Amino acid sequence: MAGKVDVSRLPRTVALERGADGAPELVLLDQRLLPAEERTVRLRDWRAAVDAIRALAVRGAPAIGVAGAAAVALAAWERAAGPEPADAAAFLAGLEADGAAIAQARPTAVNLPWAVGRALGEARRLAAAGEPPRVVAEALADLAVELAAADEAANRALGAHGAALLPCDATILTHCNAGSLATAFYGTALGVVYAAAERGGVARVFADETRPVGQGARLTAWELARAGVPVTLICDDMAASLLASGAVDAVVVGADRVAANGDAANKIGTLGVAVLADRYGVPFYVAAPTSTVDLAVPDGAAIPIEERDPAEVLPAPIPGVDVWNPAFDVTPAGLITAIITERGAFAPADIARACA
Ligand code: MRU
Repeated sequence: MAGKVDVSRLPRTVALERGADGAPELVLLDQRLLPAEERTVRLRDWRAAVDAIRALAVRGAPAIGVAGAAAVALAAWERAAGPEPADAAAFLAGLEADGAAIAQARPTAVNLPWAVGRALGEARRLAAAGEPPRVVAEALADLAVELAAADEAANRALGAHGAALLPCDATILTHCNAGSLATAFYGTALGVVYAAAERGGVARVFADETRPVGQGARLTAWELARAGVPVTLICDDMAASLLASGAVDAVVVGADRVAANGDAANKIGTLGVAVLADRYGVPFYVAAPTSTVDLAVPDGAAIPIEERDPAEVLPAPIPGVDVWNPAFDVTPAGLITAIITERGAFAPADIARACA
């Protein structure tokens, strides 16, 4: 196993780059097409970036945070461009409105409003210092690049903390995709897997298919295989039998928002896996950077849960059949063994103190 794993084979999924004319571009690997096709899109219009976030072309909490910050930079560039120099006050007011629209593209992952808030805060600071719109726009493009680098660094750090919790040659179950594809690079839950595998310590990862969108089947299985980690795909309804068999050493999942009390929202179906892990005595770890912790939300009941298009569940409607399609659920803190962050692994009850 050791030596076979190579995370450098993983593609970068979200980045801010410059076009030939110096204009910022949001560069995305369109995840809707994976694994059949690896197509990169380059966006200059922040409205197209919002559409890409909504449509899951870019997805995963940290990745949509980076995309959101980049979208604010695109908006700033657009507002700062033009034949007449933009009025500084009108520029900032307009950018605030654009930022509000970007932050609302998806409601559950706090990384999106967190990153947009970072960008708008920087714009306010520079505008108050008398910097012209063009300088603000340049700074916001740089900030998006910095946030992506910081996310990768956080993932590598939390990966090392998480790997230390696993036994040698661990067998791991994961749900959804909290991998490199869901972040700037390396991943959160899969960051733990990669860190353990790079030191030679992962026997196999079981990936839940993750109905209805199939992030586990299309993305997690694909990226683990690409990196050289042994992976077995299972349907969601096989997790109970797998955990009951005693074959799994730990469940490791990501999160879209962790509340102050340690409750954690993640992809729909995570709660069921947590209940099963508890029933069969398997440790259940949530791996997430501190940018996913929302101390303004006291507990999981206050986390907004996105409801998505019924067509994801039932592509061909059946007359008389209604569909409910919540995209996330909340795992109560009591079912979580530890929350693994870049600052270390914490009991859920300690997460607020660790992030204060
Ligand atoms: O709807 P998605 O695909 O954006 O949902 C993603 C998840 O639920 C991930 O597990 C979570 O964002 C953590 S990503 C490191």
